[in-house]
Amino acid sequence: MASVLFDNQSVPLKLLSERAYNYRWAEIDQGVIPLTAADPDFAVAREIRDAITRYAHEGVFSYGPHRGLPSLRTAMAQELSTRHYGGVDPERILPLDSAASCMFTAARAFLNQGDEMIIFDPVDYLFEQAATAAGALIKRCPYDPESGNFRLDLLEGLVTDRTRMIGVCNPHNPLGRLITEGELSTIAGFAQKHDLWILNDEVWSDIVFKPHEFSSFHHLPSPLRDRVITLHGFSKAFGLAGLRIGTILAPGPEAYTKILNASQVMSTAGGASTLSQIAATTAVEHCRYWVDDFVGHLHGLRDLAVQRLNAMPGISCKSPEATYLLFPDIRGTGLGADAMTDYLNTVARVAVIPGNERFFGPGGAGHIRLCFATSEKILVDALDRMETAMHSLAQNRN
Ligand SMILES: Cc1ncc(COP(=O)(O)O)c(C=O)c1O
Repeated sequence: MASVLFDNQSVPLKLLSERAYNYRWAEIDQGVIPLTAADPDFAVAREIRDAITRYAHEGVFSYGPHRGLPSLRTAMAQELSTRHYGGVDPERILPLDSAASCMFTAARAFLNQGDEMIIFDPVDYLFEQAATAAGALIKRCPYDPESGNFRLDLLEGLVTDRTRMIGVCNPHNPLGRLITEGELSTIAGFAQKHDLWILNDEVWSDIVFKPHEFSSFHHLPSPLRDRVITLHGFSKAFGLAGLRIGTILAPGPEAYTKILNASQVMSTAGGASTLSQIAATTAVEHCRYWVDDFVGHLHGLRDLAVQRLNAMPGISCKSPEATYLLFPDIRGTGLGADAMTDYLNTVARVAVIPGNERFFGPGGAGHIRLCFATSEKILVDALDRMETAMHSLAQNRN
């Protein structure tokens, strides 16, 4: 039975049309359904709302601790220790104002002008942006659509004497793949051999569909995990994107100090708002049930959407193991990613993200990305519209 938290009545459309930006309801033409930025259409868990209300009602908003609220650091360390990997020290965790900010901070901490960072292709544009904002150049390790794997055999050829870091997105946006323990081990061994830091983005690690299991660099033995800087977020699993909150986990005291310096929290020019940290603490401590329900809801929608997309002419869609993102191959339709995005926006009145170089690198070509973190009703409406548009496109081609 569908959870009442995520049923068709639970999408607050009016509020979303006022508050959901970043290619979503507040930014699109009326009548268009946005399956764009990865941001749920649902209100957050009751416990988070209550905690924010209580704190705000008390009316004191003084400076918080530079290194972040101990309650959040402890809650995160405990959560990561019990749920994912064990042995996490709260003193190595730094809350910052979003996962994106954690990526930029880590890049600034470990990269200098003219350094190089290896990233995967395709991958979320934040990796490239974080590297280039730090003055570094990127080299891309491609994905092989035939095998469904990254070409890790090509990594050695990408290394120069300026390579300092490799960025890994696990679970992977936009491919919806989990990086396997074998792949993680290969990447960690490669990083160790070439003395590279690993920027490890685990923002999606709570959105994993059974029977698949999440593996982490932190499952590997030392020294393989000793150069791993891991970031977590609260936007994807808990719906807190607008509160701009994330955490960064440093592998040791030296790395932590570098990150601390790069973050500017000690000068108060950086850092996360106390209210956002209260929300994140509550999310971690009390809202696991909400995420479990959410993932159950998403699991059903994933199967529905993949089946519907694969029945549309010219579209081929793999089923994601994790994330609420679909990345269908549209090359069989005769349209490229940008043209398809325009076509769907105009004809189907559905907004998607094009798999173009700006968002994902050259490896995204011939794909579009759809976010399905909405109600079944809205998703089915969007898929119905897409189906009609894709059939009429195919007819006009014949
Ligand atoms: C892989 C990945 N990393 C980082 C982020 C940024 O998350 P936040 O909103 O917490 O900055 C996103 C958002 O889509 C993402 O997909």
